[in-house]
Amino acid sequence: MTPRLQDPVELSGIQRNQFPPEFRWGCATASYQVEGAVDADGRCESVWDRFCATAGRVREGHTGAVACDHYHRWPEDLDIARGMGLNAYRFSIAWPRIAPGRGKAMNRAGLDFYSRLVDGMLERGLEPWATLFHWDLPQWLQDEGGWVNRSTVDAFLDYTDAVTRVLGDRVRHWITHNEPWCTAFLGHQHGVHAPGIRDFPASLQVCHHLLLSHGLAVPVIRSRVPAARVGITLSLHPLRPATPDRRDAAAVIRHDGLRNRWFLDPLHGRGYPADTWALLGAAVPKVAEADLAQIAAPTDFLGINYYFPETVTDAPGEGPVATRTVEPHGVERTAFGWEVAPQGMVELLARVHAQWAPGDIVLTENGSTYDDVVRPDGQVVDAARRDYLARHLAAARSAIDQGIPLKGYFAWSLLDNFEWAEGYTRRFGLVHVDFQTQVRTLKASGQWYAQFLAS
Ligand code: FCB
Repeated sequence: MTPRLQDPVELSGIQRNQFPPEFRWGCATASYQVEGAVDADGRCESVWDRFCATAGRVREGHTGAVACDHYHRWPEDLDIARGMGLNAYRFSIAWPRIAPGRGKAMNRAGLDFYSRLVDGMLERGLEPWATLFHWDLPQWLQDEGGWVNRSTVDAFLDYTDAVTRVLGDRVRHWITHNEPWCTAFLGHQHGVHAPGIRDFPASLQVCHHLLLSHGLAVPVIRSRVPAARVGITLSLHPLRPATPDRRDAAAVIRHDGLRNRWFLDPLHGRGYPADTWALLGAAVPKVAEADLAQIAAPTDFLGINYYFPETVTDAPGEGPVATRTVEPHGVERTAFGWEVAPQGMVELLARVHAQWAPGDIVLTENGSTYDDVVRPDGQVVDAARRDYLARHLAAARSAIDQGIPLKGYFAWSLLDNFEWAEGYTRRFGLVHVDFQTQVRTLKASGQWYAQFLAS
């Protein structure tokens, strides 16, 4: 990690009081990435447990079995979140803790865990933002076909009903799905995420069922939660052509069709984008008559996870949209290779607001990974992450100045955690976790966020 020399506070000139007083300031986590305790209190196996147990799937054979042991250490973690001055906290619920198997009663111990966790947030002034599905599908549902199978939609509604019945008196903010693109395409086309399937038509069917389950869950949540605020979280990317060549410009439009519009259009009542649908040929999903109307159920906010822009080139023969992403030269990157582009976030938010007008927008994730070093004095001076955070907050303010109804920012992540196929090799936390001792240390980036929030 090369620390930047400029002070990020000066660099961005950013102050909390430049944001509306009701703005939500949070950090985000996800169940499988932090909880561990995979056998505790009646939790059943998830597709990620199975994926991790399959040789060669996750770097260094890492698994989420222990992770940050957040299942047992959550009071300390929420204390840290409160200490940073956050007013909101995004977490996800592990479906395998709630639904132990077909025909079996919902697991009271799992529901009780989240009930205690939510109470812990409320006691610390953290508004809970719950995500129902952040990728940890129960393995028994996968054995029945998983998201390829339409009956998983019904199982999701039963699970949603059970969770919102118990937490609905205390949790107003609900996110149905986190990044359906990843579940659909990383999990079922590229096979690099659980369940590790490589079948393009299956990935499109999965995508459809995820969107449908979102739309059908919205009224379930509303029926259980007084004054519910419901949304979905998408991973969206601003796109750039690799060269000025008109073939790359056309490639950007095709790539956008599956990357961004495939989600934004149906969620906003426009159905699947016709240009993309035409390119997919026989791979298109089976869509029942009422599905598109149900997917477009009105919501209260759109969650956007913004990490990086993509640079796209025409790639004849590479799948039905015939595009490839390339690494642009001379740009700043994180240790993951992701381009650092705060301005891209403003472009993206402006586009979504102008083209789809979802109403309130919340940045439900944004963050960076760098190779952190723990100094002999125990400090982690992650200047690059602090700089990334400050510059993205400045970008968020500039989006608000442009009239974009941005209502909150959740940094990814509170804690270093299990980064999916990358295992523990990618640290995204504002808090360093020593995975041997479980000691937590607030990094310089987390200290900066706390100072900013106190300003
Ligand atoms: C997002 C995921 C989140 C985390 C970050 C780095 O795609 O939603 O769980 O892995 O990337």
